[in-house]
Amino acid sequence: MNRKADHAETKVARSAADLHKKNGPMALPIYQTSTFEVTDNDEQLRVTGSDSYYTRYGNPTNSVAEKTVAALEGVDAALTFSSGMGAITTTIMSLLKGGDHIVAQRDVYGGTYKFLSQWLPKFGVETTFVDTTDYQQHEKAIRPNTKLLYVESPTNPTIRVVDLQRIASLAKRHGLISMVDSTFGTPINQRPAEYGFDLIMHSGTKYLGGHTDLICGVVAGRKELIEKILATRTTIGNCMDPHASWMLVRGMKTLAVRVTRQNENALRVAEFLEQHAKVRRVHYPFLNSHPQQALARAQMSGGGGMVSFEVDGTGEDARRVSEALRLFTLAPSLGGVESLVCIPVLTSHLSVPEEERRKMGVTEQMIRLSVGIENAHDLIADLEQALKAVGAAAAVTVG
Ligand SMILES: Cc1ncc(COP(=O)(O)O)c(C=O)c1O
Repeated sequence: MNRKADHAETKVARSAADLHKKNGPMALPIYQTSTFEVTDNDEQLRVTGSDSYYTRYGNPTNSVAEKTVAALEGVDAALTFSSGMGAITTTIMSLLKGGDHIVAQRDVYGGTYKFLSQWLPKFGVETTFVDTTDYQQHEKAIRPNTKLLYVESPTNPTIRVVDLQRIASLAKRHGLISMVDSTFGTPINQRPAEYGFDLIMHSGTKYLGGHTDLICGVVAGRKELIEKILATRTTIGNCMDPHASWMLVRGMKTLAVRVTRQNENALRVAEFLEQHAKVRRVHYPFLNSHPQQALARAQMSGGGGMVSFEVDGTGEDARRVSEALRLFTLAPSLGGVESLVCIPVLTSHLSVPEEERRKMGVTEQMIRLSVGIENAHDLIADLEQALKAVGAAAAVTVG
């Protein structure tokens, strides 16, 4: 059977398990083992480097998770890691060395910003940050020692959309590796490899896992790059536990239905917020008011589950709204079935200096929503009541 031709919903629901095996378990077995027995030393040498040698090198349960993500992204191979940050740091450390240079967009996840700006310089790798959607700046920042073009789309928490085709071809023209953090996009809504991206990264903690019970990361791409990253992952020891891989595979079975519902809910929430008197601005890729709306609709099949907005008031007002919500739980992270809310300047971007945050457009008034799979009416009613908190304290003082 030609499984490559299956649609994304089919690929995730069936995973990459061996479906031809007679009387095999329908659910994926967990190979909860650190090591694998061999019959003799010739076999020992043969299995070195396979997924049945030692679990820091690989594990059959992890392989199923990896093959599922590779199939979803339409690339040769993928690797799992103990976290999304583990995927980013291990990949970059595998492919770059002291003296190399990175061009990265300004608004990237706070942890990524910290790694690029504070950690890599210690090893002699410098990063130039450029305005996310100013592609001339990306090109101008390229130097003879540049090795990597790093982007994130949609961005966290400003929900800007990057032209994937433009970035991938810019990287090709200059002989650079292109890497995208596609966590917010999900492989259901966008597949960067179709535009020529070399490496696609996900914090599997978010949409891939989907149930707020797992920390993991994935990188997918061409075989020769993945092989280099595997060698580094094995040395650094940044692998995923087989039980966590099993949870990831189980989570991914419903990825397509979850994301489809989250796309619908988030669009409705964004439309509601946009017409609300106490909301200054809403950031959502499929709103007509979004500056890259046409691009988003061309390269994404859904706008995703992430919405951010700025209240027409102060940072205090934003905090009060986030605390008044009943169905959106105040917590960092995103992508699960339950709706969550957070204030980016107090969570994901806490470690980013204020001046840099201002350049990114991350304000104190900004609230980020991860819209779940609940009933959209209920979510909107919750936002309606919570937004009454904007200006409420000031009114009390005046009164
Ligand atoms: C866009 C994005 N990339 C990467 C990460 C890091 O992932 P993890 O927390 O799994 O290390 C996050 C975490 O919030 C994120 O939002």
